[in-house]
Amino acid sequence: MSDVRSIHNLALVGFMGTGKSSVGRLAAEQLRFAFIDTDEWIEHEVGRSISEIFAQQGEAAFRQYERDVVNALSARRDTVIATGGGLVADASNLASLKSHALVVCLWASPETIWERVRDQTHRPLLQSPDPQAKIRELLEQRGPAYRQADVLVHTGFRSTKEVVQQVLHQFHHARK
Ligand code: S3P
Repeated sequence: MSDVRSIHNLALVGFMGTGKSSVGRLAAEQLRFAFIDTDEWIEHEVGRSISEIFAQQGEAAFRQYERDVVNALSARRDTVIATGGGLVADASNLASLKSHALVVCLWASPETIWERVRDQTHRPLLQSPDPQAKIRELLEQRGPAYRQADVLVHTGFRSTKEVVQQVLHQFHHARK
């Protein structure tokens, strides 16, 4: 069996606030690829916001929606996919993405993430009494999953534009 990967798409994974959606949108523009954000897809399909889904149906239902999206994505070509921060915590989601996409993880320290998300209210997992502790806890839990990505890109001291260039460089290199 050949071990050559089929890289038709680019998938961005990583923690909340690492810039997956903004980097993904710009990367898609430059590649002239379609852009899909898994959270937006779910909100559109279900007709509810992520916060409403968590509140009314629970996190387990949301994770099932994520698995459904991941399955639907395997037929895509020429698409940049920005994923929700917890999506690759399920190893089968990561394996599925890797079967058709280069998986790039955007990385940031807990402090940087906190600075980026502290004024936002749309993430149910961070509506906790101690969101900074929650960030550290989830990052620790998910670190091993994120490190299974094909490429890790640190976003801390880079502008969005620089991160996009770095991601595109890795993508072109992987497709050579
Ligand atoms: C989540 C991250 C969110 C969204 C949901 C759960 C997570 O996406 O999927 O609130 O478990 O980390 P972003 O990473 O785009 O914020």
